[in-house]
Amino acid sequence: MKIAIVEDDINMRKSLEIAMSDFEEFEIKTFKNAKDALKILDDTFNLVITDINMPGMDGIEFVKELNGRFEVIIMTGNATLQRAIESIHLGVKDFLLKPFDIDTLVAAIKREDTIQKVQKTAIKTKKDNNGFLGSSKALENILHITDRASKTDASILLLGQSGVGKEVFANYIHKNSPRAKKPFIAINMAAIPDSLIESELFGFEKGAFTDASEAKAGQFELANGGTLFLDEIGEMPYNVQAKLLRALQEKEVRRLGSSKSVKIDIRVVSATNANLIQKIKEGEFREDLYYRLNTIPINIPPLRERKDEIIQIADACLIQNCEKYGFELKRFSTEAKEELLVYNWPGNIRELISVVERAVILSENNEIQASELYLQNRK
Ligand SMILES: Nc1ncnc2c1ncn2[C@@H]1O[C@H](COP(=O)(O)OP(=O)(O)OP(=O)(O)O)[C@@H](O)[C@H]1O
Ligand SMILES: [Mg+2]
Repeated sequence: MKIAIVEDDINMRKSLEIAMSDFEEFEIKTFKNAKDALKILDDTFNLVITDINMPGMDGIEFVKELNGRFEVIIMTGNATLQRAIESIHLGVKDFLLKPFDIDTLVAAIKREDTIQKVQKTAIKTKKDNNGFLGSSKALENILHITDRASKTDASILLLGQSGVGKEVFANYIHKNSPRAKKPFIAINMAAIPDSLIESELFGFEKGAFTDASEAKAGQFELANGGTLFLDEIGEMPYNVQAKLLRALQEKEVRRLGSSKSVKIDIRVVSATNANLIQKIKEGEFREDLYYRLNTIPINIPPLRERKDEIIQIADACLIQNCEKYGFELKRFSTEAKEELLVYNWPGNIRELISVVERAVILSENNEIQASELYLQNRK
């Protein structure tokens, strides 16, 4: 197992390196900052262990850059614990509170994904949750449409506020489609600099531009046969939109700097929390592309309109987190549950998940009180 350790403190870095070298199954590479790590990290690595507080790019920004490519363990001091908690939605495998001993680290590395395990055993809502921890009438209704649409190659546009689960739906669609065994490639338009989106999507030939020392396939080619998930599609630069439309219509792409087209067979799912109609009016989004992407629109309602799911998701997260942090199982007080139900959840499920994790960590005893949810701006 190849592990990258990113830590600016030289003593900590060296002592981790030495301690870990006792384990034959681990191949360790250390980095003194995130930038250096980003240059070197490739598919041969299985896991990244990173500090948070580092000069230059901090650990959380770094984990965002990694974009889910590796399992991540965060090492955090008390001072940065809050920041670590904020990063929970980034899908971090574990947090280790400094100082920790090597056995704790090794246990964290070896632990199989507890979240998935608990999800499978504790939540009996469906034979396979597909990432959905609760259920409600509203959710069932959209899942019904989604199921029908998944079976086809029709383009699906997922609409909904931030944190409602658009990405969860995109995964679900792929897994329930005839393309399930083929690649699922997600690209977040908001996470890639505008100038790089085109080469990211379509790839490039060696020498296509100054930095192109080697040819590279674009995500379109990598997704061939499978599903391409275009996240935050509203952020796609206007000039690239025309090229995307052409690729979808012609079913072929051409790498930058190449004169040859490659046939591609992909299913497109896109998502946005922006108002695309408004963007079209303002001349920021192409109407023709909108119609091409929007064969089947799926509106995912905000969490406050899916009230039945709130306690189910909260309970499931409670179990996961108690297990994750090695606490006895906690529970919510009646008032806490009421608070969860009346709160308006501007950050939707993402917010609920981190509220529960914070409450599990900060609550004084096994019954989580309403005040320990620290819900703000209650409406
Ligand atoms: N029904 C659900 N049950 C459990 N967890 C969920 C559910 N829906 C979403 N989540 C979780 O909530 C978080 C946010 O979901 P997701 O990233 O899919 O939202 P999004 O709509 O794509 O948000 P954004 O617009 O900010 O990208 C993720 O951690 C996801 O796993
Ligand atoms: Mg998303």
